Amino acid sequence: MIWFFDSGIGGLTVLQEFQKLLPKYDYLYFGDNARCPYGNLDDATIRQYTEEGVEFLFNEWAEIVILACNTATAHAIRYLQQVRFPNRKILGVTIPGAERIIEGGYRKIGVLATESTVRNRAYKDRVHIIDDTIHIQEIAAPELVPFIEQGIFKGEAIEQILASHLKKFDADIEAIVLGCTHYPYVRSTIEQLRPTLDIIDPGFESAKKFASYLERHPDIEAKIWRGGKVREVWSKKI
Ligand code: DGL
Repeated sequence: MIWFFDSGIGGLTVLQEFQKLLPKYDYLYFGDNARCPYGNLDDATIRQYTEEGVEFLFNEWAEIVILACNTATAHAIRYLQQVRFPNRKILGVTIPGAERIIEGGYRKIGVLATESTVRNRAYKDRVHIIDDTIHIQEIAAPELVPFIEQGIFKGEAIEQILASHLKKFDADIEAIVLGCTHYPYVRSTIEQLRPTLDIIDPGFESAKKFASYLERHPDIEAKIWRGGKVREVWSKKI
């Protein structure tokens, strides 16, 4: 079974990309909306919450866990993969996003993300391991997630918040990474405010990488439940 994990509704944007590309599988989704947002928490708490969530998913028969949350990926994936669950399959969203920057041949990129993802230099470090000449500006937009969790994706408040952060990026960035899985919900306002920029959605990139991973691992592909169904589980009733 493939389980998605996010701090709230953000990971649904990742799940949707998987469903579009790989519609035949069953997907399960866990949103820790009772404790959202993670993005303003300290590193240890983010790691603890992510560990608790992932442990719950493995107890619920997960074969593969997709950390569909940049903040959780940035702070916990190495620990979960290498220390806590070394024999389990856990995939994140930041590496596919970083790979897209490199494969796209971009020279100057903006990343909009949560405070903790920016603090963790999530995209900068992952790109610079491969090519440290690519210029990456990471900017935090901490006000967005609470609005998005309430289902507010458009309007004056979203426009003002986005405008105030987008103007911090240099005028000559070539693309912007949606470095938080909640941000695809406000993509149309970002496109309106900075229409010339390419948009990189790590959720979409993750779905593409996962499809190619399954092609290379037919043994794992054979175990995935089929049916095209989705079930959502929330830590707080919605
Ligand atoms: N959706 C998450 C991300 O991709 C975090 C949002 C939050 O809980 O602050 O970073």
